[in-house]
This record gives sequence, C-alpha cells and structure tokens, in this order.
Amino acid sequence: MSTLPPASPSPERAPRLTVIGTGYLGATHAVAMAYLGFEVLGVDIDQRKVDLLNEGTVPFFEPGLPEKLDEALASGRLRFTTDLDQAAEFGDVHFVCVGTPQQMGSEAADLRFVDSAFTELARRITRKVLLVGKSTVPIGTAERLTTLVQEISPLGAELEVAWNPEFLREGFAVQDTLHPDRLVFGVTSPWAEDRLRAAFEPILAEGTPLIVTDLATAELVKSAANSFLATKISYINAMSEVCEATGADVVQLAEALGLDERIGSKFLKPGLGFGGGCLPKDIRSFKHRAEELGIGEAVAFLGEVDAINVRRRLRTVALIRQVAGGDLMGVRVAALGAAFKPDSDDVRDAPALDVARMLYLEGAIVSVYDPEASVNAHRVYPDLEYAASLDQALVGAEVTVLLTEWQEFRTADPAQMGEQVRTRTVVDTRNALDADRFRAAGWDYWALGRPHTAPVPVQVVVSNRSQAAGRVVDKSADLPC
Ligand code: UDX
Repeated sequence: MSTLPPASPSPERAPRLTVIGTGYLGATHAVAMAYLGFEVLGVDIDQRKVDLLNEGTVPFFEPGLPEKLDEALASGRLRFTTDLDQAAEFGDVHFVCVGTPQQMGSEAADLRFVDSAFTELARRITRKVLLVGKSTVPIGTAERLTTLVQEISPLGAELEVAWNPEFLREGFAVQDTLHPDRLVFGVTSPWAEDRLRAAFEPILAEGTPLIVTDLATAELVKSAANSFLATKISYINAMSEVCEATGADVVQLAEALGLDERIGSKFLKPGLGFGGGCLPKDIRSFKHRAEELGIGEAVAFLGEVDAINVRRRLRTVALIRQVAGGDLMGVRVAALGAAFKPDSDDVRDAPALDVARMLYLEGAIVSVYDPEASVNAHRVYPDLEYAASLDQALVGAEVTVLLTEWQEFRTADPAQMGEQVRTRTVVDTRNALDADRFRAAGWDYWALGRPHTAPVPVQVVVSNRSQAAGRVVDKSADLPC
C-alpha cells in the first residue's frame, strides 16, 4: 500500500493539533499528522522522551517511524514539549493518547493518566477547542470526563469532548495511522464532527470509511474489536487443545477454517497466544466494566478467552519439560524471542518472556535472544541470560524453543543451527518454522496441537563442545502429542 502523503489539509480549515502522551500511539499519531501537513505539538511529562523525539530519535522500536519523524521534524511542523501551558495555547484540537494500563491488583483500567491529562488541559483552556480522547477506556469515561472538564475549565459547558479510538498495531503503526481501515468519531455536536473531519481531512480524502457516532459507541468499538480479535485467537488455541488430545493437526485445521470467507484466516494463527500492552488488559478491563454495569454475563466468555490464553503458556512449558525428559533442572534451553510479537521491542505481558521465566524458575539454564527486545526484557527479568546473537543463544542448547516468530528465526538454516546445539530438539510454539526442513536436518520437531513425527534419520554432526559435555536428552518420556 502507498506510504505517500495523501492530499494536504486545506490551510483555511486545518486545526493546530496537540498530542498529549508520546508513547507508541501518541508519538506515531503526532508524527503522522505532521507528515500529513498539520502543525503539531507533542506533549509528554517525560523530559527524556521529549528530548529524544526533538532530536529525531524514536524511543522505541517501530519500523518506518524514525524516517517519518525525520521528515516531520525537517518540515518544521512538529515539535515536542513538556509544557502544557504552551499546548493549551497552541492547540485547536487536542488528542489525548496517554496509557491506560491495568490497575495493580484489579482487572480494571488505571485511568489516572487520562484523568490527569484532561484535567490539566481543561484548567488551561480559555477558548473553544475540542478535546479528543484516543486512549482505550471503559465505556462511560468520555461522558464522565465531559462533566469533569466543564467543571474545571474557564470555558465551562462550551468545552467539548470527543472520542476517536485508535486501532494501530505495533509493527505497522505508521501504515495503520496513515491508512486506517476506518475512522470512528464519537461526538456530541455537529461542530465537534466538523473539527474532527478537518483534523482527518487528508485521510478522509483517500476514501477511508467513517463512522460518526455517540461517545459510548466510539468507546465500545475499541473494546469490542480487541475482544473479538482475542476471542478469535483463543478459539483456535482451544481447538489446539482438542487437537492435542485427539492427534489432529491444528495448523491444517486453521487453514481449512480460514478458507471459509465468513471465518477468514486472519487472527486464526494457533500458538502461544496473545500478549502485549493491549489485548490482555483490554479484555480484562472490558469484562470488569461490564460487571460494574451489571451486565457481566454478556461478556463472561472473555474470562474463558483469557484463561485459554494463559493456559497456552503453561502447556508450552509442560511440553518443553516433557521433551527435556520430564525435568528442567539444569537443562540448557535456547529461547528464541522475548517480544510479544515480531517487529516489536515490547515485552509487556509477552508470552515469550513469560515462558522463558517459567523455564528458568523450574531450574532450566535459559539463554534468551531477541533481535530487538533484549534490552527491555533484561530490564524486566535481569536473572535470565541474554545472548547477543542467534548462534550464541543456541550454543550447547538441549532444547531450542521458538517463542516469537521473527523473520530471522523463520529463515535461519536448520542445518547451521544444528551445528551450535547439543541436541537437535526444537519446540515451535508459534507454528512458524518449516517442520519438514527441520526434520530433514535431523531435528526432533515439536509443536502443540500437531502430531509428532520422528525426525528423518540423518547423520547428525555433533559439535566437539556437545560431545565433550556428553549430555543426551531423554526422549523416551510419555509425550503429550
Ligand atoms: C492490537 C490490535 O490488533 C490493534 O488493533 C489495537 O489497536 C491494539 O491491540 P497489537 O497489540 O499491536 O494490536 O498486536 P496484534 O498484532 O493485534 O497481536 C496481538 C497478539 O496476538 C500478539 O501477541 C500476537 O502474537 C498474537 N496473535 C495474533 C496470535 O497469537 N495469533 C494470531 O493469529 C494473531
């Protein structure tokens, strides 16, 4: 798809934009809007982040974003600041993009940052502008914030709040922001709709579908979309459990199901399940909010979706334990991947890192390698060993586990990988490797939900180091597939 900027905004209609919060969502939104031709001021309370962005450095890994940041800064249309007074003075439309993490000890979303951003802006606003929430929030938040900001702002009841949910995926953030599937405007007046139309004019000019609706529906679109995606993933992973008990093959099952256009193959990839900063906490917060509203039964299934997802990690550890001979104590494991998905350095609720940690807690010697996420992973779990390369992670491994399906792992040569390890046993938790190629190179290939076939008997050249160590993994244990 094209990444060229669509039509520039009409100068007479173009609002000046602020973006409050410069995490994945906010930084990408600020850059994309400046790239499209708007004057944009990005705001964050973190001076370091603001300095980095002003210098042209994206403080996280997102393919394509550094180049777009450079272009936007060079255009002179984009700046970042920590000064909210400046932001209130500058903006005609303010986009609030701060995080809504899960509360400690509860499934509810922590709305402190959202409340603070709206409150602090409202205090400073003296002319008619639009406050727009983009963060994922429980239904009813926009209405509550409207009352709050109207009480606080010198502008009183004239100050309006709109909601414009964001659907960007990490790894595709630039593309998803510049060319979204759809735009949703939750508004309470024709004026607010007009302001948002002006703010998204170049994207609307591309023919992007637009839904104009009320505040609650706009909030719900995001929770409902993420719940649906999570449900689809857990559905195929539940089928994987059935395959594990029956000897059926979940990869072929998913392929056959996905060919039905009504079902579709996207988000039907069986494996280790979902993680990241969005899907897990969003389904929990949605369920929590529904319970508060007295309609918990309507989305009680999300508890099951979550449970299936968490079970993937436990079943994966169980499979690794069994292929290692029933006990992980002292077993060397190469853990390939830490990020919650490829093309991201995000380790929030990452299934990969969670599995690596559980293996470590059972006594395995775990060497983790991730092309981008090792620094973040090390910050969270400093006790794990972090390798600087794939080869280094593989040295002496008795079990190799593919946890995040980075291209580097998918395209690695199994014969060459085999040179490094002590035992050619691989567990593919993402169904991402070419099982036949691995078997042909003498690997014992394992995956949840797929029948186990013995490796092709080939002459396996064992490295000197491996022979010296002399440890052999016992594969005679009663294995689950
Ligand atoms: C998600 C939504 O896709 C996005 O619209 C929303 O705005 C934010 O949350 P993101 O968190 O970037 O985006 O990740 P996504 O690409 O959706 O993947 C989520 C998780 O599901 C990953 O851990 C991924 O590995 C897993 N997944 C995805 C599967 O296990 N199987 C699949 O078929 C698809």
